[in-house]
Amino acid sequence: MSVLIIDGGTPLKGRVTAQGCKNSALAILAAAALCEDKVYLTNVPDIGDVKTMMGILRSLGYKVTWGNGLTIKPGVIKNYDLTHTGAGAIRGSLLFLGALLGRLGKVVLPMPGGCNIGTRPIDLHLKGLSLMGADLDIQGGNIVGVAPGGLKGAYVYLDFPSVGATENIMIAGALANGETTIENAAQDQQVVELGKFLMACGVKIHGLGTKVIRVKGKKEIGGVTFRISGDSIEAGTYAIAAAATRGTITVDGVDVTFLRPLLFKLQEAGIEVVVTNGHEVTVLPSPRPKGITIKTMPFPGFPTDLQPLMMSLLATAEGRSVITETVYDGRMGHVSELWKMGANIEVEGNTAIITGVEKLTGAPVVANNLRAGAALVVAGLSAEGRTVVYGMEHVMRGYSNIHQKLRALDAKVELVSDEEAVNIA
Ligand code: UD1
Repeated sequence: MSVLIIDGGTPLKGRVTAQGCKNSALAILAAAALCEDKVYLTNVPDIGDVKTMMGILRSLGYKVTWGNGLTIKPGVIKNYDLTHTGAGAIRGSLLFLGALLGRLGKVVLPMPGGCNIGTRPIDLHLKGLSLMGADLDIQGGNIVGVAPGGLKGAYVYLDFPSVGATENIMIAGALANGETTIENAAQDQQVVELGKFLMACGVKIHGLGTKVIRVKGKKEIGGVTFRISGDSIEAGTYAIAAAATRGTITVDGVDVTFLRPLLFKLQEAGIEVVVTNGHEVTVLPSPRPKGITIKTMPFPGFPTDLQPLMMSLLATAEGRSVITETVYDGRMGHVSELWKMGANIEVEGNTAIITGVEKLTGAPVVANNLRAGAALVVAGLSAEGRTVVYGMEHVMRGYSNIHQKLRALDAKVELVSDEEAVNIA
């Protein structure tokens, strides 16, 4: 258990490089289970969720080592039952459904965990894989699946452009017999990058980044060397933190295409941003932002993962902001913590009405999920006085070295254990 102590009020300053994309890495690590030969990944973020996925691959029989990059060498696959592997702790593990049904024709997977942000059903995953010939059942809290005759290509229409369901069906499609079409597919960074990884492995895919993706299955998939691109959500987090502290930073190493929805909203709030070479964003020192309206949507709409962070920024905007969360039904958990810091936010269902206050004030707060925790860090950086963020282990699931990266940007932060926090805070 860890705690971040933040002495707020210092404008962030300097340059930061985005880590490798968390969600791309998770999808690609699951897809690596399809490969018969060595997979070598670079720019893999050093975060908790990646370590959990590495543990799952090891329990399957893969040799996974971390040097300059991450090497995954297939051994004899000795396991298809992931109930005691930590798979139940994260959402990304759900992608082993498609991977193991494709590779072994059978799987037992605990119902996935991940952030506490709503009901998060998995029906679209199950429907898609069933259409591809899998028999799936929920037994004793586990998903039990078999595909006795192997998976076959299918036409899958998604009621909602679910990121995970699109990925699961793409992964399953890679070893299926024939072509799989996914209509109303997700267009997010991790989906595009998973597709690029599979293509680098020799799988033919059309329509990446569009709403219709076609995957032509192969009999066997070899190995590959692949670099994971910069994390747009992590990059966006630092950009928002700069704006919230009225500082100026440059974030590099990220494809700005995936940051456009955020940059557009920052500019609408009066924050100046400059994009260089499509891979670098500078947030210029800005006055107090203006209140704006945000509605989260599947990409290219405004990303739900940056919603809590924008709420921290808009908590000190001039005037009123309205944020509507349409992707998840329970992603307002950060509001009650922001209240402790003096924010004026009313919540009506999935809509938050934020009346900007001049300043937030430091307080002890609790992170109850990954992005909510990051939002509290941003709020603490901008607040007057000391903020103590408990539950940082949620944040560390997705942000590598956040405390060191913030310190390099002039922030006054210290990461300590729960026991140490008692004496310091
Ligand atoms: C991924 C990201 C997460 C991000 C989300 C949306 C990973 C590991 N996580 O999560 O950070 O917040 O995309 O951008 O990549 N849904 C269903 N049935 C399903 C699947 C999803 O109803 O079978 C619903 C969910 O409950 C949710 C919405 O669809 O309301 C979006 O979920 P989805 O796009 O699947 O997100 P994840 O893949 O879980």
